[in-house]
Amino acid sequence: MLKIQDAVAVITGGGSGIGRALAEFWLRQGGKVVIADVAEEPLLATETALRQISGAVTSVCCNVTLEGDCEKLADHAIASFGKINLVAPFAGITSDAMMIKTDRDTGKVIGKMSLAQFQKVIAINLTGVFLTIRECVERMVNNNCSGLICLVSSTGSLGTAGQINYASSKAAMSVMPKVLTAEFFRRGFADKIRCMAIAPGYVGTAMVKNIDAKVLGKIVEQVPIGRLIEPEEVVSLVAELYRNEAMAGETVFIHGGLRLGSKG
Ligand SMILES: NC(=O)c1ccc[n+]([C@@H]2O[C@H](COP(=O)([O-])OP(=O)(O)OC[C@H]3O[C@@H](n4cnc5c(N)ncnc54)[C@H](O)[C@@H]3O)[C@@H](O)[C@H]2O)c1
Repeated sequence: MLKIQDAVAVITGGGSGIGRALAEFWLRQGGKVVIADVAEEPLLATETALRQISGAVTSVCCNVTLEGDCEKLADHAIASFGKINLVAPFAGITSDAMMIKTDRDTGKVIGKMSLAQFQKVIAINLTGVFLTIRECVERMVNNNCSGLICLVSSTGSLGTAGQINYASSKAAMSVMPKVLTAEFFRRGFADKIRCMAIAPGYVGTAMVKNIDAKVLGKIVEQVPIGRLIEPEEVVSLVAELYRNEAMAGETVFIHGGLRLGSKG
């Protein structure tokens, strides 16, 4: 079992939501944290708040869609703490719309998802994750680090109407752990660097709380535990996957029973 004490976590999307909650937890457990986010103000405010818990925190303003920013982030982690043990590429967005929008009366097509709307989500949620983990794993290998790459998929990966961009990006997150575990095994370091994904249902962060209250109410009605998942519950799972070295190459769902039927 790995220990969090002194372990270094690189967390993108660290200025908000699940990323911020993970940073708080990691510091409370005696770990060290590099948070990265494209939104500079919330990032700096988060860093200031986290310093109340521990001084072992640093931040980097980083747009994960830019190769140079991801290189800078991984270099900053090594320069600050000398190693990387957990990579949590949690920066992500939604931008929901039907692929084809039809008129209720005529049944004719009146709109379609633009290429830009599709590509923006793929750029952040998929390409951004690829760049973040590629740069971090390079430095983990070269600095002889052990640890976990923990991707964040979603129950959206199972297919949700209005999310062809988001669902596609999140489905990719559940194949990446298998590809990378196979590659790390082939190159002889799968015993040191593992890859897993978590797939949350609806978590009570800005991403979900921005959903129209009526729509959100209907969503929660479909969750057997009767509420949103807390960011801290997701973080607890990440921590367990980090500690438990038997976990590799899989996706673990955490959704309060979502999609297991309705109340009846
Ligand atoms: N909230 C949920 O219900 C839920 C469910 C399943 C999966 N997820 C996933 O968990 C992750 C975190 O989501 P959250 O709920 O904490 O959302 P959030 O909106 O609170 O946080 C996302 C963060 O990513 C940052 N970000 C966006 N684009 C970026 C970019 N190009 N470069 C760097 N940072 C960028 C944002 O500024 C924000 O701080 C996302 O990948 C999301 O898809 C969330």
